Amino acid sequence: MKREQVTVLTLQEKKQEGQKISMVTAYDYPFADLVDRAGIDCVLVGDSLGIVVQGHETTIPVTMDQMIYHTAIVRRAVRRALVIGDMPFLSYRTPEIAVANAGRFLQEGGAAAVKIEALGDQAAVVEALVRAGIPVMAHLGLTPQAVHRMGGYKVQGREEQAAQRLLEEAQTAEQAGAFAVLLEGIPAKLAKAVTERIGVPTIGIGAGPHCDGQVLVLHDLLGLFDRFTPKFVKRYAHLGAEALDALRRFKEEVESGVFPGEEQSFH
Ligand code: KIV
Repeated sequence: MKREQVTVLTLQEKKQEGQKISMVTAYDYPFADLVDRAGIDCVLVGDSLGIVVQGHETTIPVTMDQMIYHTAIVRRAVRRALVIGDMPFLSYRTPEIAVANAGRFLQEGGAAAVKIEALGDQAAVVEALVRAGIPVMAHLGLTPQAVHRMGGYKVQGREEQAAQRLLEEAQTAEQAGAFAVLLEGIPAKLAKAVTERIGVPTIGIGAGPHCDGQVLVLHDLLGLFDRFTPKFVKRYAHLGAEALDALRRFKEEVESGVFPGEEQSFH
C-alpha cells in the first residue's frame, strides 16, 4: 500500500489509472486515527456529525465553529489521508462568505480541501474558492442540507429532466474547478454517465458501483448508529452492540463487587 500523503492529484491519478478511491467520515481523534491507519484515501469531516454525533434530525443546526473544532481534532490524528472539511448550512451562500469560511477550514482546522453541497448554480462559489487556492469537492444529487426543499431524503435524478440537470451540474462543477464530485442518492445508471462524462473523480454514496470511489458515514459502516439505516449502507461491524455488551458487563461487575479485582488494585 502506498504510504505517501494523499493529495487531490493522487485522486486524479487514481481515476486515470482506474483505481477506486475510498473515503470515510470521521469526527474525533481515535476514529480518525483508525481510518488513516486503515489506508483510506480521504477523511471527510462531514456535517453528518449533526446527526450521528450530536443527535439532531438533520445537518442544518451544525455551525462553522463546530466544524472547525472537529476538523482540527481529526487533523491531529491523520498522517496520510486527504482531510476534507464539510462546509455547513449557509456557510457558502456567496463567494465572499464561502472564501472566508473555507479559509478557516484550512487555517484553523488544518484541512486540505472543503466540500460544498452544490444547490443549483454554485459555479461562482467554486471558482472563488479555487482562485483563493482552496480545493473544493462539489456534492450533487441528494444534498442533505436541502432536506426541506427536497421534501425528505429522497433519491434524486430519477426523471429524465432531473438526470440531465444533474449531468450538467457535474460538468459545470468540473469547469469551475472542482477537484471531485460527490454523488449522493442517485440511480446507478446516472452516476455511471456522470463518471464517464467528467474528467475529475466521482465519489458515490447511494450512487451505485460505477463511481470512481465510494464514501460511507463511519457510524453507519461500523454499526454505531441505528436510528435509521439507508438502503445503500453496508455494515462492516457491529460496534454499537459490542459497546452495549461491555457497558452492561461493567455495570454487573461493579454491582456484584467483581470489579475492581486484585489486578486493578494498589497495595
Ligand atoms: O456529511 C457527510 O458525512 C456527507 C456524506 C454523507 C458524504 O456529506
